[in-house]
Amino acid sequence: MARAKEKSAFVCQECGADFPKWAGRCSECGAWNSLAEIKLPSGSSHQNTASATGYAGGGPQITILSEVRISDTPRESTGLDELDRVLGGGLVPGSVVLIGGDPGIGKSTLLLQTLLTLQANMPCLYVTGEESLQQVALRAQRLGVDLAGKEGQLTLMSETSVESILAHCARQLPRLLVVDSIQTLHTEGLTAAPGSVSQLREGTAQLVRFAKRHDVTIFIVGHVTKEGALAGPRVLEHMVDTVLYFEGDPSARFRVIRAVKNRFGAANEIGVFGMTDRGLKPVSNPSAIFLSRHEQPVAGSVITVTREGTRPLLVEVQALVAEHPGGNPRRLTVGLEQNRLAMLLAVLHRHGQIALYDQDVFLNVVGGVRVTETAADLPSLLAVLSSFRNRPLPDGLIVFGEVGLAGEIRPVSGGQERLAEAAKHGFTHAIIPKANMPGRPIDGLTITAVSHLNQALDLL
Ligand code: TYD
Ligand code: MG
Repeated sequence: MARAKEKSAFVCQECGADFPKWAGRCSECGAWNSLAEIKLPSGSSHQNTASATGYAGGGPQITILSEVRISDTPRESTGLDELDRVLGGGLVPGSVVLIGGDPGIGKSTLLLQTLLTLQANMPCLYVTGEESLQQVALRAQRLGVDLAGKEGQLTLMSETSVESILAHCARQLPRLLVVDSIQTLHTEGLTAAPGSVSQLREGTAQLVRFAKRHDVTIFIVGHVTKEGALAGPRVLEHMVDTVLYFEGDPSARFRVIRAVKNRFGAANEIGVFGMTDRGLKPVSNPSAIFLSRHEQPVAGSVITVTREGTRPLLVEVQALVAEHPGGNPRRLTVGLEQNRLAMLLAVLHRHGQIALYDQDVFLNVVGGVRVTETAADLPSLLAVLSSFRNRPLPDGLIVFGEVGLAGEIRPVSGGQERLAEAAKHGFTHAIIPKANMPGRPIDGLTITAVSHLNQALDLL
């Protein structure tokens, strides 16, 4: 008997679009060499691959918007308030959270801590495909858990077959399931190796479908590649409700978790933890830790207030400008976008008449935090200039503002909050965009508003 031919599809690992044929370039997003072959389970067609995401529901049915029942199940606190913050206020029943990060950064530790807290009020299950049960127990011991007590009652499972895991869950119905990690799982319908694109996609699809059908919250651990993206296709990010990333490197003192995507809260929200000998501890006042107050003002250092998610955060931007012999000077950033620096230097040249084409420029955000918003433009330029001229900026100064290509200083969101955060930490002087000037004065803070780069440069 002739075996039915195995069907395959080609999925773009950048945008998740799928095609029946291979091509060198994704016609959806334009990425080169991003199509990877996936084997579809036998009997599967493109159509039921789409419904595998679990949102397709049962038979076709039409509902009127106002008649949709909105259940207001309260969110469950994870016991770690910084984790609750990135989740948008706690766990949402039936949601699927993907959590990525470098090896050794603390993914397993964070989830084990969460399970140990929550298992007192709801049935929880920890599925480990990566470590032995003994390793998990040793970690719990390290966290200071009394294994003879209530926390020792947590249920564990060492299993890598998605079908077996879900079959067990259908019987026991945990309210919270942790899968550590998706790269170790395999589904039985596919012959591909665990960790391959097709296994990741199918395994995640099954977990998502299960979560939606049974209202189970699932945490999925995912590894990241060298470039910092989740290993495997970006489609995983599309399939889940929330994507959290551990930022920075495992050797840093503090761990920052960012919500890259969140259907139930603000994207870009960050949570800050310190790794101690008893696991991760939330840092409740992160502004204080990213600031390193210098004994004396140093050249090239500027404090800014960034707003990642909904919380204002004080961070220090440091620049070093050094003469570069020969052509091709370097522009290097850590924690900021490199292309943005090149653009800012062009604006400084054109509108501020300060040329740095014979200088190397290095820019760093202290403390390993990554700044993704444009409010760091003006502080970055002032830090560069301060280093170039070897002239420190005055103590107690904070700066924020976006710099436009015409040299104009543009407003940023949440100006009032940023100023309030600066005043709270004892800053006395602020340089901000004119359009961010608050209506009422802020106690203890002298504010200078600028509308063009030249005005800001004149101030120094
Ligand atoms: P782990 O949580 O296993 O990271 P991941 O699952 O992301 O690979 O490991 C976290 C690191 O933190 C590991 O190197 C050991 C360390 N650690 C502590 O410093 N204190 C602790 O209490 C624990 C449990 C781990
Ligand atoms: Mg781990």
